[in-house]
Amino acid sequence: MRVTNQFPEHFWWGAAASAPQTEGASDVDGKSPTTWDVWHEREPEAFFNQVGPDQTSDVYHRYREDVQLMKDMNLNSYRTSIAWARLLPDGKTLNEKAVAYYRDYFQTMRDKGIEPVINLFHFDMPWWMMELGGWENPAIVEHFAYYAKMAFEEFGDIVKYWATFNEPMVHIECGYLGDAHWPRVNDFKRAIQVGYHTLMAHFAAVRVYRQVGSDGKIGTILNLSPVYARSDAPEDQEAQRWADLFHTRSLLDPIALNTYPQELVAILKEHDLMPTLIDDHASLTQEKIDFLGVNYYQPLRVKARDEKALTLERPSSLYASYDWPEKKMNPYRGWEIYEKGIYDIAMRIKNDYGNIPWFISENGMGVAEEERFIDESGIVQDTYRIEFIRDHLSWLLKSIEEGSNCFGYHLWTFIDCWSWLNAYKNRYGYYRVDLENDLERTPKLSSFWLRDIIEKNQLDI
Ligand code: NOJ
Repeated sequence: MRVTNQFPEHFWWGAAASAPQTEGASDVDGKSPTTWDVWHEREPEAFFNQVGPDQTSDVYHRYREDVQLMKDMNLNSYRTSIAWARLLPDGKTLNEKAVAYYRDYFQTMRDKGIEPVINLFHFDMPWWMMELGGWENPAIVEHFAYYAKMAFEEFGDIVKYWATFNEPMVHIECGYLGDAHWPRVNDFKRAIQVGYHTLMAHFAAVRVYRQVGSDGKIGTILNLSPVYARSDAPEDQEAQRWADLFHTRSLLDPIALNTYPQELVAILKEHDLMPTLIDDHASLTQEKIDFLGVNYYQPLRVKARDEKALTLERPSSLYASYDWPEKKMNPYRGWEIYEKGIYDIAMRIKNDYGNIPWFISENGMGVAEEERFIDESGIVQDTYRIEFIRDHLSWLLKSIEEGSNCFGYHLWTFIDCWSWLNAYKNRYGYYRVDLENDLERTPKLSSFWLRDIIEKNQLDI
């Protein structure tokens, strides 16, 4: 096992969140609606307890108080996002109130020694862009590059770490191969086109970042799930390769290596699924990132399908996933807990992706009805979260010891936040937010535990 408890110097200790999940103020000071605002207005019952993006923890008005709480916990970095629809309500005109808000928010972090890590897109498509076709319209590449340019110019003096996207696979899959994101389409060909435009928008934003002469770093944030085959049987191994190709390599290869996996291209051609390329494709694809953010929650366990699917309707036409019941979140159902996955990702990045600098941009445990764990003092006794974080950190440390270039760990999330259709069903934070009592923030046991870990920069086992 590993021999050290010590994390590297300057290790990023932080937490992650996003604008749409925390800001609230969804129609305040000039912000225009996103797909989430419109969806909630049309169909509130689609959201858990009907709670929509207008009722989050109101960071828009409380960020100073929250940054102080970050400081109290010893955090030295924090990731959130800018809302495109707040900064550019019509896609063109800069909203000065948004500029003032974000500048003050990011500067407040910096003043307290907290590195702001700012992401451009966290599932919150402005409604005006959705009306133009959203990710299906190739024009989005230019719209997104313009938005990125405005953000870099307005905040680049304060923000030195940028991400273009958070979990792009999620808006592709949930919006175009499922119904958890707008526009709830189920069409593999359209999903591939959306994925392609997303990639091009990423490259275009990186290009703009270099062009404006920035002195910081830019990367992207991917959700990576190691894919494990049920057995060594050739059919299961093949299922593993397909799942990995679609879920990992389809985005990671172009973003981190600037190449497209040829097996993927071949299968898309074979099934008439190739996207229509944009003019600038070849040169855009050369744009390189400085670092990678990895969101890790659970692995993907796959086996061969009983029968071969005749058509390729979705990635899972080529494999079947199965449940691994050993350890679950939400004590203890729902998502699988597999701590070693974090180590396997680290080794993969080291061996197959040039050991690019990376950090855990999300890892965390969502727990339903967490009020069950509040004690007489009013504190959530989230010992399960402490155990979860400790076990993941332990594997992360082992990977660092073996040469992984990991430079930080961000928990999802800092203060319990709104989670899309699930709203506040599962709680993830170091702090509890009381929805019934003026959004009061109360630290959970895990926040005290982590504060000490950060202070020593070492794991206490
Ligand atoms: C990943 C996403 O980035 C975030 O928006 C979401 O709330 C968390 N996972 C928890 O599911």
